[in-house]
Amino acid sequence: MLAEHKQQLLAELVTGAGKEELIWINGYLAALINGAEVRVETVSHTSAKKKITLVYGTETGNSKRMATELAAKAKKQQLQVKLASLDQYRLTDLTREENLFVVISTQGDGEPPVAAQKFYDHIHRNGFRLDQVKYSVLALGDSSYPLFCKTGEEVDAQLEKLGGSRLVPMRKCDVDYEQDAAAWFAEVLHSVQTAGTTIPAGVTLAASTITKSNKKIYNATVAGNQLLNDRGSEKAIYHIELLADEVDYLPGDSVGIVPENDTQLVEQIIKLSGTDPQQQVLHKNESFAIETVLKKKLAITHLHERVVKKYAVIVEQEIPEQKMDLAQLLQLYPLKQTAQFEEVVGILPAQSPRIYTIASSPTAHAGEIHLTVEQDQFTVNGKQQTGLCSGYLAGINAEQPLDFFVQKNKRFRLPAADTDVLMIAKGTGIAAFRSFLAERDATGATGSNWLFFGEDNFTTDFLYQTELQDWYQTGVLNGISLAFSKNQPQPFQVQDKLRAHGKDVYAWITKGAHIYVCGEKSPMSEAVEKVLQEVIAQYGHLSAQEAASFFEKMKEEGRYSKDVY
Ligand SMILES: Cc1cc2nc3c(=O)[nH]c(=O)nc-3n(C[C@H](O)[C@H](O)[C@H](O)COP(=O)(O)O)c2cc1C
Repeated sequence: MLAEHKQQLLAELVTGAGKEELIWINGYLAALINGAEVRVETVSHTSAKKKITLVYGTETGNSKRMATELAAKAKKQQLQVKLASLDQYRLTDLTREENLFVVISTQGDGEPPVAAQKFYDHIHRNGFRLDQVKYSVLALGDSSYPLFCKTGEEVDAQLEKLGGSRLVPMRKCDVDYEQDAAAWFAEVLHSVQTAGTTIPAGVTLAASTITKSNKKIYNATVAGNQLLNDRGSEKAIYHIELLADEVDYLPGDSVGIVPENDTQLVEQIIKLSGTDPQQQVLHKNESFAIETVLKKKLAITHLHERVVKKYAVIVEQEIPEQKMDLAQLLQLYPLKQTAQFEEVVGILPAQSPRIYTIASSPTAHAGEIHLTVEQDQFTVNGKQQTGLCSGYLAGINAEQPLDFFVQKNKRFRLPAADTDVLMIAKGTGIAAFRSFLAERDATGATGSNWLFFGEDNFTTDFLYQTELQDWYQTGVLNGISLAFSKNQPQPFQVQDKLRAHGKDVYAWITKGAHIYVCGEKSPMSEAVEKVLQEVIAQYGHLSAQEAASFFEKMKEEGRYSKDVY
């Protein structure tokens, strides 16, 4: 099988290699076997950044302030940090954590802060183990209370009971907590940096390959998929969370996803063609089983007239030039012989990726990518149809694999931390601003943030309502202006709200705010631009032409950006 000298080389390579190195080699070989062009990167997984998760439970903000400062310190030490409030933290992640650090205060009569109650109850419910988790607790309190730091003590004891390994002892802090917190964290960082990286059972390192088009493909796993609309909504918008390590992106970027075709449809096509599903075919100079190429690589529905015409030539039949599905073609105009199917596969266009704006922040949601995906519904010849990719994503479940690449958007970037930001979104356009706000919250950006958000109905379509309200309450959002276009008796569009707040909007503009628009291109973004110019004219006492030049200048200076579709 393998020449002797190669066997020797292989033995040398694997002798003494650690588990992580072996996994990396395994992934490298698997990618080669699958035919991907693999580029060996200088930063391999063996030198991958160590990951820590810092969660905080706060009532009056002290624990959050501390955790945010500590997260910044950890990042300076090249650690990959996930920072989250305990009410935002996904409890199902707990068993997967490598290094978990909890900053938590005690409230009431020795009780957890309200935002930490769910976490507190969850860890006291048992039923799961944290054998792979290294942890430590920073307990904030006030020694004038009889139950000093009781919640921190309970959390510390409970994490140990569940099997977690205490990396450094819990530290209790009194009202002047800064020095104690810094000392605790210095110990934490030292222990994390000096400890070997362990790989929790059942967790594999997310692999990645470089495609021929030089796009890095990340092989993610779905962590969750949740419908954001309430019952009665005319829409179906999903919040999808993916687990993927060290994704290189910034707020404002998008991901590209190539949808998979429906398995039953692929089976039907194979049956109609009479082909062996395992027969190998060439696609872009790589060999795949026909079944795989039909499922993952090629478009098989709504085929362009051009493709239908080529099909007609292969089967030597007259076919009306109109968009058709491959299954329809095979049914109505069957192949003369099975061997023709390879030719048919050759005329099918490659499946094109669909682009979705990222809804997560690299700082607040390290190791994760979040998407806000609306299921596309439309009718063709009187039949209700669902968009291929959005339909595929709507039905995707936790644990399923999903590949994506990052589509950079250099023209849609957050400004300096102290610059004010005015965001205008409709529908799924909120994705970009969830990313912006989470990033600004996690990095402690000092600039003000004002969100205009438009959707159909307040009761069913207020996407990310709890998070947005939380950000408003904690001062991350300084303004939130909502416009529900189907609310009776007072329907509003975002541009109406913009006009109604014209005076303040203009004041923000003159103070140097950057304006961003995300979501529907037409009519929303056009109407917004029109109203912005009206506002500039009215409150800046300018003619329409002068206001238009003012607006153009804002664009040139990078103070007005849009991501519309
Ligand atoms: C209403 C109230 C009740 C409190 N109860 C306790 C307590 O029982 N034990 C304790 O150690 N500290 C107690 N504290 C003190 C807080 O834990 C302390 O101020 C802490 O720094 C608050 O952190 P946070 O802003 O992150 O919530 C209490 C504070 C308040 C305002």
